[in-house]
Formats: sequence, C-alpha cells, structure tokens
Amino acid sequence: MEGDSCKITDENNSCCSGNTDKEEIVMKDHWNHTYSKNKTEKLGWFETDLSPTLRLITKAGIKKTDLILNVGSGNTTLIDKLLEIGHTNLIATDISDISLQKLKDRLGERKIDYIVDDLTNSEKLNKIAPVKLWIDRAVLHFFTDDKDQDSYFKLLQKTVVKNGFVILAEYNLNSASKCAGLPVHRYSKELLMERLEPNFDLIESFEYIFTMHSGDKRPYIYALFKKL
Ligand SMILES: C[S@@+](CC[C@H](N)C(=O)[O-])C[C@H]1O[C@@H](n2cnc3c(N)ncnc32)[C@H](O)[C@@H]1O
Repeated sequence: MEGDSCKITDENNSCCSGNTDKEEIVMKDHWNHTYSKNKTEKLGWFETDLSPTLRLITKAGIKKTDLILNVGSGNTTLIDKLLEIGHTNLIATDISDISLQKLKDRLGERKIDYIVDDLTNSEKLNKIAPVKLWIDRAVLHFFTDDKDQDSYFKLLQKTVVKNGFVILAEYNLNSASKCAGLPVHRYSKELLMERLEPNFDLIESFEYIFTMHSGDKRPYIYALFKKL
C-alpha cells in the first residue's frame, strides 16, 4: 500500500505538516491527514447535491442487488444515499483507512464492504468479484503519471463485468489545476473515451459546475459508459 507508485513530490509543502519542500509524501498519509484534520462537510469536494451521479445510476438501470464499487469513496454521503434508495450490495474503497473508518462509524457494516487499497497498486481490489457499476467522483484526476493511469484503467477493465457500467466524474479541461493541494490531470469526454474504447460505449456525458462550500466553482465532466 505504501509502495513507490503512490508517492508524490509536494513542491509547496501544501499537503501535510512536518514535511520539507520537495520531500516525497506518501499518498496514503496525505489523504489520512486531510480526513483527520477536517470535518467531512468542510472538505472542498463535499457535495450535498448528488443528483448528477444519481441521474447516471438511474440511467444505467441496474438492479438494487447488483454489486456497486465506489472507488476513492472517502466518507461520501453517496453511500448513505445508495442505501437509502435500496441498494444492497456495496463496496466502498479508498487509500485512506481513516476516511473509510469515518464512513463505517456512520453507516456500520450493513450491506457495505470496506476495502482499503490503492487503485494504482491494487492488492485487494484485483481479487474482488466482477462489479456491475464502478463509480468514481474526483479520484482518477489525481493520477497524473502514465503508469498510475494505466494501472487504474487496467483494474477498471478487469473489474467491471460485461454489460456493466462505469461512471466517471472528473475535473474538466476548464477546471482548476489542483485539487486538495495536489496537481490534477483534467479530462474531456474525448479523453475519457480514448481510455475506455473499444471495450466500452459512451452512453451519456455532460458538464457540471460543482460549487464548493467556499463558493468557488469547479467544472466537472460526467460520463456514463457501458462495457460491451
Ligand atoms: C477528492 S476526494 C473524493 C472523495 C469522494 N469520491 C467524493 O466524491 O466525495 C478523492 C478521494 O480519492 C482517494 N484516493 C486518492 N488516491 C487514491 C488511490 N491511489 N487509491 C484509492 N483512493 C485514492 C482519497 O483518499 C479521497 O478519498
């Protein structure tokens, strides 16, 4: 989990206290630190309006018993909502054990598997049962290295079942160049299609402007794909 592939260089020392300039910071520590020091609703990406993701889940038309994998879930209230609307087979996964513990403290064990793993260097997710729906909001865009992106998409391609779905919601080309103090790789519909075709078909995509609690705007690209 703390292998070389999840290290970054933080030139501005903006992530974690106690680190010097240019020091390599382990991603897991960065995210654990972020979740430890902030209340969930104060996190820059915290959303109260889950409707863009929920609309695409409805469009996918999956059954309530189908396996849903929320990658980089952190402590998102999307999991609460999925339970509330009757989904019974959920996996919440994140590199940050602290974020998942917060989620577990709120929701308990019912109908949810919690898996601490690194999407770019998977030790556990590469062994789970095929999933019907992969949901990623604001996670893929943190993978700026080709190697990490390749690992992520390899895992996605392997994990999603035939006729299954993928929802990706990432900073779009007009969005900020950093998120949570980290540089991001921004996407368009076409860039996402390049990564998923020819094994997936694009079903729908749209741009969405997310307003942070600070009032700052962050434009996202949302896309729903179906595996052929
Ligand atoms: C901006 S937050 C988004 C959280 C959640 N998806 C949401 O929309 O509220 C990014 C999340 O990705 C997780 N993450 C970052 N790098 C990761 C990696 N290599 N593997 C798994 N999760 C990762 C972080 O811990 C964090 O919870």
